[in-house]
Amino acid sequence: MEEVYSDIGLFDLKSSNELLTHDLLQRKVVNRDESLDFGGIRAGEGVNSIHAYPAMFHSRLVRQLIGSYSAESDYVLDPFMGSGVSAVESGVMGRKFVGFDINPLAVLIAKVRTTPIKKDILFNTLENINRQYYDVMPNPPVFPNINFWFTPERIMSISKIITLIDSIDDEDVQRFYKVTLSETIRAVSQTKPNEFKLVRRKKPCQLDTIKLFTINSFKNIKFLDDYYKLNKITHDPDIQLVNTLTDDIPLEDNSISLLITSPPYGDSQTTVAYGQFSRLSLQWLNLPYDSDKKSLGCKRITINSGVSSPTLYMILSLVSKQDLNRSMHVFSFYYDIFQCMKRIISKIKIGGYIVFVVGNRTVKGTQLPTDIICVEMLGSLGCSHMETRVRLIGNKRMPSKNSPTNITGEKAPTMKYEYVVVCKRNR
Ligand SMILES: C[S@@+](CC[C@H](N)C(=O)[O-])C[C@H]1O[C@@H](n2cnc3c(N)ncnc32)[C@H](O)[C@@H]1O
Repeated sequence: MEEVYSDIGLFDLKSSNELLTHDLLQRKVVNRDESLDFGGIRAGEGVNSIHAYPAMFHSRLVRQLIGSYSAESDYVLDPFMGSGVSAVESGVMGRKFVGFDINPLAVLIAKVRTTPIKKDILFNTLENINRQYYDVMPNPPVFPNINFWFTPERIMSISKIITLIDSIDDEDVQRFYKVTLSETIRAVSQTKPNEFKLVRRKKPCQLDTIKLFTINSFKNIKFLDDYYKLNKITHDPDIQLVNTLTDDIPLEDNSISLLITSPPYGDSQTTVAYGQFSRLSLQWLNLPYDSDKKSLGCKRITINSGVSSPTLYMILSLVSKQDLNRSMHVFSFYYDIFQCMKRIISKIKIGGYIVFVVGNRTVKGTQLPTDIICVEMLGSLGCSHMETRVRLIGNKRMPSKNSPTNITGEKAPTMKYEYVVVCKRNR
């Protein structure tokens, strides 16, 4: 592991913030750790390839961190669990897992990935769906813009599959096919593939819905079966639709040995919109699709002194020189993260570890050192900084461009590195 300061481009040492970033880099040492890049290995392997999800954890990274910072049968918590890579990896590492997310699709995917089901049961159900497909009466839903995103033929074919999935008695099997249908819905819709936000494509998709659903089912059955033949789950995970910012946290104090999480990079308007990514599937599955409105930083908060991070206020002064309104967006996001930390810290055991995997995005030309801000916030809550390791995001599914200026059409490359920040609770 090599110690580096600015030579890997972690910070843009540019005119106005040159002094500031130098100062930050003097105070905090970060380690560029190439062994954590897992070059050539996809972020989501095996069962974690069931259903794409934006900004997924790299499964190898999570497995290694769980191994280093917890022991067998310990409780691991991920309060921004997403598609549940941390849930899968905790299970196969013999840890007990608790995970929260506000996006019902994330909860659904995480449950499917962590529920081994006998492949014969899944194949029999798939055969029944295919057999009944041509006779079943569709019952198309009504939701805004359905005709904009789906052709009449698609609306009929998806409705037929949903009707057949709804009639499955076994809850685990039903969930498995809902997730498989969700993958199919996105592909047969009029949305551009490989976009996180909903953008309409010009040429309609040519794929046949039931055929694609069947292909996806085969793929997912294989992923599930292969994974759990090799890896046994020792504890069932506890996966819940919980808003970490506002809901009661259903955990005992001092119960968690390791908190490992990758929170959103910023507010959902200007970074990844997990809710928008999931919206069409959620509308079809008749689940709430307003999670972007509840995500961190979506409620504007006037800048105040309530966040324990001197670095945040230095950065805000730079952003506000460019755009006062944007500095308020930035503040609101960090304010919310800090509230979440305060709500959860008592749940971590004294001596337990907190691992935040974060990205340092750029707003109005200023890089936001989220890793340092997290260390300062956690420091004020009785945690000491153990280390920060830096890895290439390269093989993680992320949009290649984002809109940091928030101006339609104006794009910039997204982050190259992510920061693995490890702290320990001392009091
Ligand atoms: C970077 S993603 C996590 C990805 C995850 N590590 C994975 O492997 O899929 C951040 C997640 O935080 C969730 N989130 C945002 N605000 C939340 C809140 N207030 N409470 C719980 N989850 C929230 C989003 O829905 C999203 O799934």
